[in-house]
Amino acid sequence: MTDNAKLVQSAAELERLLDDLQKVEKFEPPAKFRARARVRDPGVYEVAARDPEGYWAEQARQLHWDRPFTTVLDDSDPPFFTWFGDGTLNVSYNCLDRHIEAGLGDRVAYHWRGEEGEERAITYADLHRDVQRLANGLKDLGVGRGDVVGIFLPMIPEVVVAMLACARIGAPHNVVFGGFAPESVRERMEVSHAKALITVDGARRKGRTAPIKREVDRVMSGLTELRSIVVVRHTGADCPMQDGRDVFYDDLLARSEPVCPAEPLPAEHPLFILYSSGSTAKPKGILHTTGGYLTGVAATHRDVFDLRPDSDVFWCTADVGWVTGHSYIVYGPLANGCTSVMFEGAPDYPSKDVWWEIIERYGVTTFYTAPTAVRVCMKWGIEYPNRHDLSSLRLLGSVGEPINPKAWLWFYAVIGRQQCPVVDTWWQTETGHIMIAPLPGLTPTKPGSATLPLPGVSAALVDLDGNELAEGTGLLVLTRPWPGMLRTLYGDDERYVSTYFDRFGPRTYVVGDAARRDSDGYFWIIGRTDDVINVSGHRLSTAEVESAIVAHEKVAEAAVVAETDQVTGQAIVAFVTLNADLRGDDQVAAEIREYVGVRIGKLARPKSIIWAEDLPKTRSGKIMRRLLRDIADGREPGDVTTLGDPSVLHQLQERAAARGKATS
Ligand code: WTA
Repeated sequence: MTDNAKLVQSAAELERLLDDLQKVEKFEPPAKFRARARVRDPGVYEVAARDPEGYWAEQARQLHWDRPFTTVLDDSDPPFFTWFGDGTLNVSYNCLDRHIEAGLGDRVAYHWRGEEGEERAITYADLHRDVQRLANGLKDLGVGRGDVVGIFLPMIPEVVVAMLACARIGAPHNVVFGGFAPESVRERMEVSHAKALITVDGARRKGRTAPIKREVDRVMSGLTELRSIVVVRHTGADCPMQDGRDVFYDDLLARSEPVCPAEPLPAEHPLFILYSSGSTAKPKGILHTTGGYLTGVAATHRDVFDLRPDSDVFWCTADVGWVTGHSYIVYGPLANGCTSVMFEGAPDYPSKDVWWEIIERYGVTTFYTAPTAVRVCMKWGIEYPNRHDLSSLRLLGSVGEPINPKAWLWFYAVIGRQQCPVVDTWWQTETGHIMIAPLPGLTPTKPGSATLPLPGVSAALVDLDGNELAEGTGLLVLTRPWPGMLRTLYGDDERYVSTYFDRFGPRTYVVGDAARRDSDGYFWIIGRTDDVINVSGHRLSTAEVESAIVAHEKVAEAAVVAETDQVTGQAIVAFVTLNADLRGDDQVAAEIREYVGVRIGKLARPKSIIWAEDLPKTRSGKIMRRLLRDIADGREPGDVTTLGDPSVLHQLQERAAARGKATS
């Protein structure tokens, strides 16, 4: 441990320390960190602001281009922007071959840790070998350039192989988070016209196993475009294989040719689609392309995490099924040739100190997680991290939702021992990479603020009419295209324009978050302004959950809102009206929660259900969610002048106060 690292020994000491730290307005980068930081020159912001395209072109040139680009940004048809349009490159070449050619084949790409403590060290050469075989295997199955491949896998190394194999042959992947229900997988395969799906026999979760292939089979019939299912053997669960359609991953690799050259692809070739929740029940297929995306994730991974590829061990605890996993478990770290940790399990299995044990075991230097996880660890107490030597850590990161100052300070004090800068990174599935975050050797941090837009990024706050606000609260917008931005919503250009660019014109990207800006120009993200709920950093649409609830035979009407939750940030509350003559009780509530779990996934199950004879509506019949949010959070409902029948409120308030919360 470094000389002046401070280990907090007791709860009382922690409390005193947090009280003291709360008085600190700004945390300067520790002197030692600053002295060695990759980005130290404050001029970087100004240089990039003067010539953002030049800045990004310089970042892009750090990749390997088969044909160098001569144009950077093409903004002649806003909001359809292109980056590095005439260049060609291959993402898998940049993530693998390039490093192997530089003699780094034996470097560990992932220290993989299984749920039961198994370990695998996967080198760049290992990945390169398997990726080529799988790429050839996919080609043999008839998958070619432009064909969408679904991936529904747990946190095992094969998920990385699958993504890179697709990238190698120009087949856009569509990864579905392992926590989603098979029904969601089917829907996403159908709407993306997937030709193949790569999945697993079974998945493990806290000592139990789920028969994934069987569940997938149950819903996957009748998809005429889906011709092949590749099955990774993981748990050894017995699974039915359909002749002519299904093949085991290891069999496919064994019978495929070992060499598959990476195809040079146009910079704007689609790399992946990732479905994300929006304000309607229909998920949005966010489309990312090749050159700009890789440029953005590689540059931000390098600079925001102050990367030293030959000595750092980077650990992003997200799931690969979310954008954070795409960008900072797979593409950023591999493009930069660094060593990462990949963990199959949950933070409390087999015990509540498993994360800290992993940090000690692999010498993790850079730890990137979500506020909800920090709050859970706070609840469990300091005894778990204190069982382990965390002195390898030199940088901490946060992503997915606003981090409350108390959680920030706990993270900084207990896990970082006041030695590690904390980078709070704001971005979205749509942005592809980090947009607002400190540069850790340069930017003073304030707990709870994501600080400033990165070099090359232009963000602003505007009022409802689009006037820029130098300070105060407003809507967050991005005022200049950036290389990793989504290019469209898959198959739906119109929805792309109407969702992000209708409000203030085709050059102003509307984020969907409200934020505050202080007198230093620092951004403080407040939360979503649309009907998206952020549960433990996972985006869910109220409309999607509502439509699952009302599909239940006993339900007449439902309205879903978010309430504030100490641990998960937000939690889902459903106000439900049952069909006439039915009475709501715990049994029906359990049925509805289960039903939502099966249709969308367990993460979408309402935390609590409040029975409503009637929902508060305007005279024209529109549900007044604002009032429901007040009720869920125990606030006195705001303006009720437009409410049709004010008497419904009182009863709902009583029920909300009395509710016994169901737990998942
Ligand atoms: C929220 C996850 C505050 C925000 C990378 C955004 C954050 C949505 C932060 C995107 C942060 C993400 N501070 N809020 N550091 N990071 N958000 O698409 O509301 O799953 O719009 O991307 O999460 O969620 P998504």
